[in-house]
Amino acid sequence: MEEKVGQLAQIAGVPYESEQSEITGPVAEMGIPRKLLPIAGSVLGVSGAETVKRIQDNYLKENRLGIPLIFMVDVIHGFKTIFPIPLAIGASWDTDLAEESARIAAKEAAVSGVHVTFSPMVDLVRDPRWGRVMETTGEDKYLNERFAESFVRGYQNNNDYSDPYAIAACVKHFAGYGAPEGGRDYNTVDMSERQLREHYLSGYKAGIDEGAELVMTSFNTVDGIPATANKWLLDDVLRKEWGFDGVIITDWASLGETIPHGVAANEKEAAQKGIDATVDMEMMTFTYSNHLEELVEEGSVDEEQVDQAVLRILKLKNKLGLFENPYRTASVSDEGSIVFSEENRQKALEVAENSMVLLKNEQNTLPLVPNEEKIALIGPFGTDENLLGAWSWRGEPNTASQVLESMRKVVNEDNLLYSKGSNIEEITTEQLEEAVQTAEKADTIVLALGEHWEMSGEAASRTNIKLPDAQLQLIKRLSELKKPIVTVLFNGRPLDLNGIEEYSDAILEAWFPGTEGGEAVTNILFGKANPSGKLPMSFPENVGQVPIYYNRFNTGRPYESAPNDKYVSKYLDSSNYPKYDFGYGLSYSDFELSPVQLSKNEMTPGDEITASVTVTNKGERAGKEVVQLYIRDLVGEVVRPLKELKGFKKIHLEAGESEEVTFTVTEDMLRYYHPDQTFRSDAGEFEVFINNSSHTSHTETIVLTNK
Ligand code: GLC
Repeated sequence: MEEKVGQLAQIAGVPYESEQSEITGPVAEMGIPRKLLPIAGSVLGVSGAETVKRIQDNYLKENRLGIPLIFMVDVIHGFKTIFPIPLAIGASWDTDLAEESARIAAKEAAVSGVHVTFSPMVDLVRDPRWGRVMETTGEDKYLNERFAESFVRGYQNNNDYSDPYAIAACVKHFAGYGAPEGGRDYNTVDMSERQLREHYLSGYKAGIDEGAELVMTSFNTVDGIPATANKWLLDDVLRKEWGFDGVIITDWASLGETIPHGVAANEKEAAQKGIDATVDMEMMTFTYSNHLEELVEEGSVDEEQVDQAVLRILKLKNKLGLFENPYRTASVSDEGSIVFSEENRQKALEVAENSMVLLKNEQNTLPLVPNEEKIALIGPFGTDENLLGAWSWRGEPNTASQVLESMRKVVNEDNLLYSKGSNIEEITTEQLEEAVQTAEKADTIVLALGEHWEMSGEAASRTNIKLPDAQLQLIKRLSELKKPIVTVLFNGRPLDLNGIEEYSDAILEAWFPGTEGGEAVTNILFGKANPSGKLPMSFPENVGQVPIYYNRFNTGRPYESAPNDKYVSKYLDSSNYPKYDFGYGLSYSDFELSPVQLSKNEMTPGDEITASVTVTNKGERAGKEVVQLYIRDLVGEVVRPLKELKGFKKIHLEAGESEEVTFTVTEDMLRYYHPDQTFRSDAGEFEVFINNSSHTSHTETIVLTNK
């Protein structure tokens, strides 16, 4: 029994080499029981072929039954070649690129001894105060579902583990972690079951239906019970309703944290609740190791419950071939040729270029023309700041391309001036004066501004989602020079851009763009790449509007119906609308979309309607456009959103080229959770929108009949 229980334990590995690595939770109080070391089932956070082999060798010398360790690591947006943060990958609206990025991450991780990644994170989020928005693909369930599928496919190589580079994926954080009250990490989550099912659960399910081998439980409560001890959520919904028979692993210490949550009086009760909820592996608390044997002996837990958990873990190890080869793909020589290869970095560059969003471009300030004008690059992100973002694990910031060094490859030195201008959160008189003097010698100012990488990610919630005052002071002062200002933003969340937008002629949202971030920014600023990103999350006018999202309800007193009335849904001191909408992003091309064409206006449930538009690139350069299909259910048994994303296609058009983009509307797209929790459609009228942003009005009406 002790060895069985040992298999249910995951312990943090040796401390890591790089200070960039992300160790979370109570590191200091690790308190790993010594007895666990020769019998633990898994190690987290350790990579490197040589290190993993050494640990595995030492472990197998001690493990009586020869059951190998399984190594799990947070490979969230790349392993050593760091891709843009997942929020940026979501902004690409390119699921093929997402899959390719996961495939490369898996290869680099696999040769470095990793068997499982704690990714994809699929928490839907509508609140930019929450620091972990950087890990999500945003506010929409349909977009999250498609990216969850892509990431799982990429990591698990379509569930074909005969490929040595496939690693197992872990969908997280189950469930609803992205909706904490106040946007404060680890805080209470409370919503109706219907809301949970309608918006928050489908992303996880998409990843699980794609074959994800593991699910990680979340820190938060779901209907008053911590997810990690929530039998309804984990056993009734995840296992029985969805048929998931893979490994359920806790988040770091989240089973032990049922005690501070106040639903377990002690570790023994925590262990009881965890095993009853069918949690298999306990990460970094030891309630199972310390109490499961006793619980079985006293009859509070059936040995069968323990056996089932052990079996799921052994099956996973077996699926990865660890019994035949406990090293799997770990190889020092392959590390040398695959990890951080030129080919991988070129893909990271492509993903970064496709993830950036052009938010503003007055008088076509962009693209700049090299050496036709003097440019002053100013701001803390021009050189040595970290462009990798949170959860960049084995990435090394100093290996990332910086904006200044990249621009210097394009612009000769007497046409490119540089001044740091400010630090991220402070500015000195000297910095400001030097920035002004530098800018005075230039024709155009390029500002590289943003959040520090630790201002987003885990345990990094902010109540103020503006850039730091130092940077607001810098841009305001430089605006007094009356020169064109191009602002490039490096940030991990939607920002309140007041104090930035009004002084910028152009704004490029670069997010945390990863290893090739500087190169990607340069390629877009000078037109070598044409921006094609679209926002996966609304940018609020101000934090007071939060939560704000595109698929909102009309309410009984919609502002739009009587904007001058007092008694309508509005603010006294702000608009109702975001600064930039979900699905919005500009291009250097000029795309025109025709009105929606329907194959017909009526359909039965087994039928379908095609809806299409013709997209024409009236610009002078080739570019990509994201054509988005939205549907509104005009009347339901519950209130229905003003529009919901039901499809998208990213297309490439040469200058002057046209293409017809067609979507097929089927009855399943019209389903929603009814008050009785059944997921079905109603007969009735629906509006169909097709445009290049959620901010759209031109539409056609279809009718679903029930005969
Ligand atoms: C953290 C995170 C989780 C991560 C785990 C292991 O607390 O919540 O996303 O996978 O610990 O590092």
